[in-house]
Amino acid sequence: MRHLLDILDLTTEEIDELVLTAQDMMAHPEKYEDSCRHKTLATLFFEPSTRTRLSFESAMISLGGSVIGFSDPGSCSSVKGESLADTVEVVSGYVDIIAMRHPKEGAPYVAISRSLVPLINAGDGGHYHPTQTLADLLTIRKEKGRFENLTVGFCGDLKYGRTVHSLIHAMSRYKGTKYVLVSPKELALPDFVRKEYIDEKNIPCEETESLEEAVGKVDILYMTRIQKERFASEEEYLRHAGVYVLDEEKMKLAREDMIVMHPLPRVDEIAVGVDADRRACYFEQTRCGKYMRMALILKLLKEKEQSDVSRKKGVPVTGNYSCGNPHCVCGTERGLSSSFYRDERGVVRCYWCDGEAGK
Ligand code: CP
Repeated sequence: MRHLLDILDLTTEEIDELVLTAQDMMAHPEKYEDSCRHKTLATLFFEPSTRTRLSFESAMISLGGSVIGFSDPGSCSSVKGESLADTVEVVSGYVDIIAMRHPKEGAPYVAISRSLVPLINAGDGGHYHPTQTLADLLTIRKEKGRFENLTVGFCGDLKYGRTVHSLIHAMSRYKGTKYVLVSPKELALPDFVRKEYIDEKNIPCEETESLEEAVGKVDILYMTRIQKERFASEEEYLRHAGVYVLDEEKMKLAREDMIVMHPLPRVDEIAVGVDADRRACYFEQTRCGKYMRMALILKLLKEKEQSDVSRKKGVPVTGNYSCGNPHCVCGTERGLSSSFYRDERGVVRCYWCDGEAGK
């Protein structure tokens, strides 16, 4: 069975196909209005969402299907102590496909161990958010006409910004990609993305703490929110809140054909005055999200009967290792055994969250 947990689960050719299908769906929605008749999507959202959940639901309805689910974990039996694995096995007996968001990193890997139907990761903690990346890629294709030879600037919370991690996984495959990373040192890109997907691939990458310095160098400026919900305390969050604000003055430093992207929601990192700038693409990005999710639902349902072609992580290792990531699902899911793998550089990582393992 086919799932989508990480954008790397899709080949470059499959991404191109999804983009083409989504563009056709945008142009000719009537062709697809019965594609999922008698099919049901479950949206299991253990964390708040506006765009991702509602665009999944809108996507399934536009394909002629139905939707069940919850948007508040307080309304499902996890509050009575039911494990994630049990919840997913039960729900997968009622529906044809599941989209799940969970605050714990690696939760989708637990979910697929018991799901009877295809499962889509709609965001797991500060780890990955592959369907946001599909929305981002369609936006880039529409606005820039290509994925190759682009300099992408990422600004803000690169440590917990799961949309950044997934988009880097995707863009690092394309010829001529360059990065400019803008963040405070404490919110820099984590090793599990930086080492394997930038350094190992020898992708040119500049780092700076200054947005002013970066804005004129990039084709795409990907702004992100400081992820308040991932910090250990309010005090720690407040140290970084409001650190970057893209406003009309800074836009004057940017190229005429640069585009501004943001996965949204924004807090204060893009001034409202920038919305009227023709280079602001973040609301277009939300529209692209619906069509890419339509294309993905259709693809996974068509491929449901195929054998598992999900990407395998490294080489499994045994030994006295431990996961030190406080956000990992292994710390909360009952009965979950520790599991580790060795990556291409020889680093031992937690199978669930990809964090570096300790001894
Ligand atoms: N971009 C995104 O994931 O938005 P939501 O949290 O509103 O789903």
